Amino acid sequence: MGDDVTAPATTASALTQQVVDRLEHCPDPRLRELVGGLIRHLHAFAAEEALTESEWMAGIRFLTEVGQMCSDQRQEFILLSDTLGLSMLVDLVNHGIAGSATESTVLGPFYVEGSPWRRNGDAITDDLGGPPLLVGGHVRDTNGRPLPAASVDVWQNATNRLYAVQDEEQTPENLRGRFRTDDSGAFAFRTVRPVDYPIPDDGPVGRMLRATGRHPWRPAHIHLIVSAEGFVPVTTHVFDAESRYLESDVVFGVKQSLVRTLVAHDPAVDAEPDGIAGPWYSVDIDIVLQAGAAGSPS
Ligand code: BEZ
Ligand code: FE
Repeated sequence: MGDDVTAPATTASALTQQVVDRLEHCPDPRLRELVGGLIRHLHAFAAEEALTESEWMAGIRFLTEVGQMCSDQRQEFILLSDTLGLSMLVDLVNHGIAGSATESTVLGPFYVEGSPWRRNGDAITDDLGGPPLLVGGHVRDTNGRPLPAASVDVWQNATNRLYAVQDEEQTPENLRGRFRTDDSGAFAFRTVRPVDYPIPDDGPVGRMLRATGRHPWRPAHIHLIVSAEGFVPVTTHVFDAESRYLESDVVFGVKQSLVRTLVAHDPAVDAEPDGIAGPWYSVDIDIVLQAGAAGSPS
């Protein structure tokens, strides 16, 4: 106890040092490093910005409301992390150098584990309401060798902009599914063209966006988690090259390598694929996985 008694600090840097020194008995070195770093950066922020007491209290109130907004259905803290670019910074730190492997991006709050297994070529929705989209691709290793039996877990929003988990009008399994690659590493499914959508902005994060003059939109995309035995799984998206929000994604998730042109097809010119009537779009999504420890297909 007596160890904690120190003379009051009279400068910001002395106070910061005192608080960091209080961690000296922390038994976990990584925890000590992280909490120490957090203290140093928080103190530097408050000192450099000359944070007023009312600004400090507004920050406390804001974080309290972010916590109060969280529920089983809503993770406002992740939304805050996403919109402040923290999620993509963590992605960059952990997966910055993908080499020739497919780049990763944010998971987002609408992923639901345990999507139904579907057969290659199946539709992930019955409810189009927009142009059909035929998705095909291969999963390969970084030497170009096909990866059979890889798992391709996909989800996307409906043309009303909502994911099934956000919308009681949709069946829970709408617009999501898992596919297993065939012997040539191929997978394929039918869907509807995804649309641009605003992230949930009826809470404190939405207020923060409006107060700072930001929009809440994400460019149209399909989410994928691809995994194979003996390879590092990738959590990624394919973005529609025609979206107007590619340069201003509210969560900073766009990487140029993930943008694809959806190719328009006219039934007067191209034979309609099975299950598709009228004009449609197609896109090829080739996924490259890095060999590594983590990852057996889900
Ligand atoms: C999404 O793409 O589903 C998403 C990602 C981050 C925040 C909100 C939504
Ligand atoms: Fe999304």
